[in-house]
Order: sequence, then structure tokens, then C-alpha cells
Amino acid sequence: MKPVLISGIQPSGKLHIGNYLGALKNFVDLQNSNKYECFFFVADLHALTENPNAKDLSRNIINLAADFLAAGLDPQKSIIFQQSQIESLQELKWILSTLTPISELMRMTAFKEKVLQAVKPTEREKITKRGFKKIVEETNFGLAEYPILMAADILIYNGEFVPVGNDQLQHLEFTRTLARKFNNKFGQTFIEPRALITSTPRLMSLDNPHKKMSKSQPIGCIFIDDSPEDIEQKIKTAVTDSESEVKYDPENKPGISNLLEIMSGLSGKNITEVEKSFAGKNYGEIKKSIASFISNYFDLFRNKKSALLQKPDALKKVLSAGSKQAKKIASKNIDQIKEKIGLKS
Ligand code: ADP
Ligand code: TRP
Repeated sequence: MKPVLISGIQPSGKLHIGNYLGALKNFVDLQNSNKYECFFFVADLHALTENPNAKDLSRNIINLAADFLAAGLDPQKSIIFQQSQIESLQELKWILSTLTPISELMRMTAFKEKVLQAVKPTEREKITKRGFKKIVEETNFGLAEYPILMAADILIYNGEFVPVGNDQLQHLEFTRTLARKFNNKFGQTFIEPRALITSTPRLMSLDNPHKKMSKSQPIGCIFIDDSPEDIEQKIKTAVTDSESEVKYDPENKPGISNLLEIMSGLSGKNITEVEKSFAGKNYGEIKKSIASFISNYFDLFRNKKSALLQKPDALKKVLSAGSKQAKKIASKNIDQIKEKIGLKS
């Protein structure tokens, strides 16, 4: 049997080129390698932690399903499904939560960052331990439980490989720890899953190359369904240094280095080759050719996606057929897990 590979993306807004190069493109390549039993899902339960309204959430679920298919995920090759349809996930999440000290959840970087979003950026540096504790007390509990649900997502299918961007590595480490803890207590049950990252696991924001490109900061994002005009405008105004030498140097020239990374990730050329191809050109010329490369790259994707969105019922069908398959596997596995812990004999 092939090893299980699994990953999900939250339907919390449009996908940017960081999501694509750090995750979605890799999903497609890994699927097509035929080396894995692939599971890819719309992490709609995780998206609830941001308290979206119902209309936005249901639209984003369909939109993400269209992104998956337009990018090349194929229901004939992978199980493509919706997280919230898998009831036994809740049972495993509960079991895992009883093995998790609260302090571990409080220490997660993503949790701390989310909590601090409630504080004005200028105040964040100054926040005291007591002040932080107070905001934590007012934070929705789902944000704290987030990594446990993510661990359950992976372990319920006995996932071994998990393609993600850099920002999810801590959650993966947490999942490994939980798997180990469970195995030590109840006997070998779970594989300790490993992250698979790409050569572009952390693209930076176009308006501030010291910060990660993130959906929560749309001004610094190129969305993968942006029009060619938008792409050109965004790349043109991307922050770069005031020199003119094209060199990959993330420390001293983070803006231009980020653009070179985008180009390298999309073209498949390594950074040195990309650098060479731009030798002697000025930043204006480079930005123009990168913008046009990105537009052309996503041309087919844009067309496929808009065709898919014309038929939302077909997208819903793909998700429900995939969910049915995933559900079957999850419910078989949860029975074995329950046996191990003495809930079932
Ligand atoms: P965001 O932080 O933009 O809301 P998500 O948390 O939905 O993105 O991430 C979806 C996937 O994309 C995850 O695997 C995540 O690690 C990856 N990812 C997110 N941002 C980036 C980035 N800037 N560069 C590379 N990968 C990223
Ligand atoms: N937390 C991931 C993100 O924000 C999404 C996610 C949920 C996930 N469950 C997962 C990724 C399981 C990999 C495996 O991007």
C-alpha cells in the first residue's frame, strides 16, 4: 500500500501565490507522482475560528474546491473532500485533547499571533504578560484547539506525509508529539507524520518583504486568480531596495529576492539561473517580465476556474463524493483507535 499523504487549506479567502507555491502546486505535483494515497480537503472547520458569516463561508468553500480542481487536483487520483463532513474527526479530536496540556496550546506561535491581532500593531510590542493573559481569556476557544483538530485531520487517516508551508511546521511537530504520546500509552497506532515543504515555503508580502504573504494582509498578496492588469500593477509597486543590482540576498535585498523566488518557484529554474536570466536588466524591466510570466502562468488556471464556477453543483458533487470516501476510511480507523483506548471491546 502507498503511504498516505494529506493536507488541507482553509476556505478563508482567495488563494495567493504563497499558498500556491508553498502548498497547492506541491499538492498537484505530489498527486501526479503516483507515489502516495492522496487526501486533500477544504478545512472549513478551521475557518470557523475566524467567525465568518455563513454566506461568505459557503461561497469560499466552493471557491476553494474550484481552485483545487483548476490547479490540477483530480478526484480520480486523490480524495478531495470537505472536513466538516467527517463526523469521526470530532471523536479523535476529543481523544487527542485529553492528551494535550493547555500550556502547549498557549505556546503555539500561530495562536499567539492570532490572539495579538486583537491588539493595535503599535501596542503589540508593549504588551505585558498580564495583558496577554487577559486577551487570551477573551479569545475564542477554537483558536486554542486549532492544532488538535489539525492533528486529528492527519492522524485519522494515518497520514505519513503532509505538504505545507513553513508556518505550519510547528503544528506538524505538535502532531508528531501527540502521535508519539498516544503510541507510548496505548501501543503503536499512528505514524509520526512528516512535513513536505517546497523550495518556496515562505513567500513574503509584496508591500513589506519582512512579513509573510498572508490572506489577512491582502494588500501584499498576488491572488492566483488576479487579472493580468492587477498582477502588473501589484508587481510594479512591490517594495524593492534602491539599488539596481539583481542579486538573491534575502537579508539585504528582501524585496527583489522575493520576486526572484516567485519566478524560480513558477518556472522551475533554480535561483542562480533566474538571477542569470535577469543579468544587466534594471528593476523596472525585471518587474515587467515577472508580471507577464505570472499572468501567462495562471492564464489556463483562470479560464478553468471560471468555467468550474459556472457549475457550482458539480463542485459540490465532487466534494460530497470525496467526503463519502474519506468518511468510510475515518470511521474504520476510529473504531480501531477506540478499541486501543478501551472504549470498545
Ligand atoms: P494564509 O496564512 O495566507 O491565511 P493559510 O493558512 O490558509 O494561508 O495556508 C494555506 C497553505 O499555504 C498552508 O500550507 C500554508 O503553510 C501555506 N502558506 C501560507 N502562506 C504562505 C506563504 N507566504 N508562503 C508559502 N506558503 C504559504
Ligand atoms: N492549518 C492549515 C493552514 O492554516 C490548514 C490545515 C488544517 C491543515 N488541517 C490540516 C494542513 C491538516 C495540513 C494537514 O494552512
